[in-house]
Amino acid sequence: MERIYVLDTTLRDGEQIPGAKLTGAEKLEIARQLAVLGVDVIEAGFPASSPGDFEAVRAIAREVRDTGVTALARAMPSDIDAVWEAIREAESPQIHIVLGVSDIHLHGKFQRSREDILAMGVEAVRYAKKYTSSIEYSTEDAGRADLEYLKKTVTAVIEAGATVVNIPDTTGYCDPEEFGRIIRSMKNEIPNIDRVILSVHCHNDLGMATANTLSAIKNGARRIEVTINGLGERAGNTALEEVVMALKVKPEFYGAATHIRTEEIARTSRLVSSLTGIWVQPNKAIVGSNAFAHSSGIHQDGVLKNRQTYEIIDPRTVGIAQSRIILTARSGRHAVSARLRDLGREMDDTRLEQFHRQFLELADRKKEVYDEDLLALLAEQERTPEDRGYELLGVQVSLGTNRTPHAVVTLRFPDRREAAAEATGSGPVDAAYSAIDQLVGKKPRLLEFSLQSVTEGIDAQARVSVRMEIDNEIFIGRGTDSDVVLSGIKAYLDAWNRAMLRQNPTLAPA
Ligand code: KIV
Ligand code: ZN
Repeated sequence: MERIYVLDTTLRDGEQIPGAKLTGAEKLEIARQLAVLGVDVIEAGFPASSPGDFEAVRAIAREVRDTGVTALARAMPSDIDAVWEAIREAESPQIHIVLGVSDIHLHGKFQRSREDILAMGVEAVRYAKKYTSSIEYSTEDAGRADLEYLKKTVTAVIEAGATVVNIPDTTGYCDPEEFGRIIRSMKNEIPNIDRVILSVHCHNDLGMATANTLSAIKNGARRIEVTINGLGERAGNTALEEVVMALKVKPEFYGAATHIRTEEIARTSRLVSSLTGIWVQPNKAIVGSNAFAHSSGIHQDGVLKNRQTYEIIDPRTVGIAQSRIILTARSGRHAVSARLRDLGREMDDTRLEQFHRQFLELADRKKEVYDEDLLALLAEQERTPEDRGYELLGVQVSLGTNRTPHAVVTLRFPDRREAAAEATGSGPVDAAYSAIDQLVGKKPRLLEFSLQSVTEGIDAQARVSVRMEIDNEIFIGRGTDSDVVLSGIKAYLDAWNRAMLRQNPTLAPA
């Protein structure tokens, strides 16, 4: 079996999604789980982009062990200095330099000639070598580049000292055959290619990122750049879970394997989803909630007779238990802690004791407690007095035929003040949102409102996700409740709190 090395870039490319900004503590929590998952390298961020990201990368490099840590730099000394300063304490640090290689990038972004850009790349690698011999060089937009120039660039940066050469399909333009051909010609036609690890980084604009990555492996790539849940710019990056499981399901076909602990996949996916606020679509391969659900009668019958009739993966291989315990007021600490562990959250006995008391209060009010409820409770418990945001104290809505929907909302402000406002709107949610805008003193642009039912029956949990633009930045908020209006309000306040607490403390009312 050929060993395939896995670089996870959830914390860099994945975090570039508008609204998915993570705090330093959240990035660290995900990095710890990525190490448990067994990734070979964590791309922890882009240190030159902000002091907050610099600190987050440094915290990860200091703490996380048993995995390499890299961070991104443009081909300029100040970026490279920032990366090195942030990662130098890692067990195995690597500097990642990126520079465009397609004519579109050269002319559009840099207005420089091919020769100039090649020299700039070589210079950057030489500069980085003063810090470490472990250097990745990414030829941005290689998927649309002139092949001869790409090969010339790769040859030169290897000569300059790069140890990993990454071929990104930055715009998700290639198809598997085309991308495979590019990788094969790197492998066969670049004389010094055996001195480096050949890596690939695919985007999913045409839905082919996983296929392109697998085709690259077939054609000689030995490192893959991926993200959890396929997060990433635009349509996202190659999903780690998809490539890893394809290699595992078809060992004879690919003849290659990673060292990923696949039983940690579901837990990692849930952790990333809950901290970024970006849900996984139900039919997403491997980690979607329907990935192992069988609904048609014919399928259920087949699976009951023999799971393999309609299942190519045993769900336990990716950490999904076949029978799920339903949490109720009779569930003890052990059951709650096991479920939390499945959600990627561990806690010590003292915290668990306290958490279990809150859980019982909630379970008394509801028949069954769902994952969303646990995560909401957890978020509440983890909130410190400094990062307490707006809290919903009460809401009353009135509506009916021939009546304009009307809402009165009472909030507790971060400074513990309480105030109420009323408004009318096109519906109860709209009225409540207008009342909240009055209290907060700003009107965001609501870009998206989506409502989903997460459980079944009349008391189903409604899950709302909103995307809104506040001061030119996009924030995602989520809320779950058996009442659709309340879940909408919770989502709205969640987005406000993310905006206020994580990005821009000046939004906090005086
Ligand atoms: O998509 C891309 O080209 C990148 C590089 C930094 C590898 O994200
Ligand atoms: Zn990318």
